[in-house]
Amino acid sequence: MDSNRLAILGGDPIRKRPFSPWPQYHPSDIARITQVVESRHWGGYPYPTKLASQFCDAFAELHGTKYALPVVNGTVAITAALMAAGIKFGDEVIVPAYTWDGTATAALAMGAIPVFADVDPDTYCLDAASVRRAITPRTRAIVPVHLAMRFADMDALNAIAAEHGLNMIEDCAHAHGGAFHGKGAGAMGDIGCFSLQESKLMTAGEGGMLTTNKLEHYEALQTVINCGRASITDQFGQRLLGLNYRMTDLQIALLIGQIEMLPELRVRRAAHAALLTELLAGIPHVRALPPQPAITQPTHYTYVFQYRPEAGAAAPHRDLFVAALEKEGIPCDGRFYEPVYRSDLFCATPANCPQLSSDYSTTHCPVSERAAYEESVWIFQFTLIGTEDDVRDVARGVEKVVANLEVLSQQDPKLAGGKAMGRAQRARFERKQNY
Ligand SMILES: Cc1ncc(COP(=O)(O)O)c(C=O)c1O
Repeated sequence: MDSNRLAILGGDPIRKRPFSPWPQYHPSDIARITQVVESRHWGGYPYPTKLASQFCDAFAELHGTKYALPVVNGTVAITAALMAAGIKFGDEVIVPAYTWDGTATAALAMGAIPVFADVDPDTYCLDAASVRRAITPRTRAIVPVHLAMRFADMDALNAIAAEHGLNMIEDCAHAHGGAFHGKGAGAMGDIGCFSLQESKLMTAGEGGMLTTNKLEHYEALQTVINCGRASITDQFGQRLLGLNYRMTDLQIALLIGQIEMLPELRVRRAAHAALLTELLAGIPHVRALPPQPAITQPTHYTYVFQYRPEAGAAAPHRDLFVAALEKEGIPCDGRFYEPVYRSDLFCATPANCPQLSSDYSTTHCPVSERAAYEESVWIFQFTLIGTEDDVRDVARGVEKVVANLEVLSQQDPKLAGGKAMGRAQRARFERKQNY
């Protein structure tokens, strides 16, 4: 077979072997899970359980916070954080447009109004100038997301929050173990929210964590997560409405191994990400994200680079570029996220969300739209936890597709298949293909 011919056009792929499996598990997991099963104490009550408290201490220490609490998932973590911070029906919460839908739906679910601000073109994280423009007298909170492998500029955002008396709720779903200016993810605002869903850097299949340095928030979070029950220290005696958002001990049994493995995996990913950046520098039509010197502990939920065909070059759409790269055996995506207000999962209107006075049809965040529909390429993190040769294969895949841009530009754009579809449409498409 012709090795120069693109695999999407019938050639031989660059990579035929799978990359490292994900999620990884720890050799001690099975014994710990067996122990929990045999203990007949599987749930999350009393909250937090003894086993959960042990994990919470380790999680808080890793991120440099005083407190940490487990919760059922990352979406609920954000909802609970907003509730604990006192956000009420009709309050406005500024979120980045370029993120997973859950950052915004978490605010909608508790009656708040997500207001979308744009992202920075070099980090794809919340842009401080855009946040300033989004502030109104009803704004009560900012929810920056530390996206993929970069951090939101917390210095600038915290300054805005202080100036306007706003709560700062960090969405750290991608940033486990990372640090910015020496401060851990989830330690720079009022409350940090983490996802432990299966694709995340630390996982219990599903799950979430909350971090805070403030006793007042810790107390309120426990109450919100534990059906309104009085918290452990009960120093504030607030009466807060709560739901059951407790995580189970069966999940905690997995997380103890996960947190043990995280630091070493984080360092390996960071070293391999640096190598990939170096290799991409020699390839035209693609651009690595510029370095962010304030990151003192890099963490990579995904490796993101930009597809930027040079002016005048015959080049296919990013979606077809990504589809071709995937066929070379490199796990990747382009529309990993869409601007939430354009996502086919985000059907928020005044009819189903009474706190809204209009839908989001006039919202426009150009940097987010360019990132989502034209420019970003997301390489999945498990390609970075194996060997240097794995990383070289990723770069060779990119190089091969770039060398064939002109040929690819002459193909039917429909070859991009699911890579050109939104989430809901893609799910239907992929389900049909698997049947
Ligand atoms: C940025 C971001 N925020 C929030 C969430 C929600 O987390 P979960 O899926 O655990 O509810 C995710 C998960 O995909 C995410 O990536």
